[in-house]
Amino acid sequence: MLLTGHAMLAGVIGWPVAHSRSPRLHGSWIARHGLDAAYLPLPVRPEHFASAVRGLAHSGFRGVNVTVPHKEAAFAICDTVSPRALRAGAVNTLVFNDGRIEGDCTDGFGFLASLPDFDPTSGPAVVLGAGGAARAIAAALLDAGCPHLTLVNRTLARAEELAHALGGPVFVSDTPPLEGAALLVNATSLGMAGQPPLVIDLAPLPSHAVVADIVYVPLETPLLAAARARGLVGSDGLGMLLHQARIGFEAWFGIAPAVDEELRRIVAADIPPR
Ligand code: ATR
Repeated sequence: MLLTGHAMLAGVIGWPVAHSRSPRLHGSWIARHGLDAAYLPLPVRPEHFASAVRGLAHSGFRGVNVTVPHKEAAFAICDTVSPRALRAGAVNTLVFNDGRIEGDCTDGFGFLASLPDFDPTSGPAVVLGAGGAARAIAAALLDAGCPHLTLVNRTLARAEELAHALGGPVFVSDTPPLEGAALLVNATSLGMAGQPPLVIDLAPLPSHAVVADIVYVPLETPLLAAARARGLVGSDGLGMLLHQARIGFEAWFGIAPAVDEELRRIVAADIPPR
């Protein structure tokens, strides 16, 4: 697709940004819909984040995704933030509106959308981790009616702080209470390529439990392999990545894009399977 002078512009800001799968993901949707649009990788050093964002907002960009290490700076720079971004304490999607900067956090939405057959009201959830990803996922589960949620984290104090910030039926434990759990989520970086594996005995999980991992490099983490070996439904982190992107794409380019097998194949093509 050759761009015209009317091309709609968006991108992803990170430092570094070369690892980001978002240009390939949004680029696939742009090509599929034949849009006069571009989605660019934007490498921006932390000290230049605010001036870069303001510059883009005044350069015709519709908005940007924000990735590591800018998510907190992005929250601070917004003129308005959505209720779910406020609840998540982070922003990953910026929409520019006449130079105004609107922030949203779409990770929790992406997580739930990646589990279409899971009913959050169906039983207790166990979330491993207490960082930004855990916070967005826990908030989305609670807002969707999760009746009981336990946070388990290496640094207990961080889990306690998060439980306090979230409010509701949130508990903290130093061991995952798997008996009776409907959902187990790994929202830590354990199991990611180059990180130690997540070591956990899944035996106590009921046979209807769903196991989700936010890690997507590799696609099949040791946790998901263990879940599948036990005959449990497992869900990898790529689904969350693909679904969280839908909201930004629609806000910038005016089309609600679909997540399907073809998209998954295109984005997964440069991710090692295990
Ligand atoms: P993100 O924003 O992606 O969630 P983060 O805020 O750095 O990233 O959170 C990373 C999570 O992985 C945290 O829950 C972290 O535990 P701590 O709060 O104790 O740091 C967890 N994590 C990372 N490396 C870990 C390790 N080697 N063992 C156990 N937990 C780990």
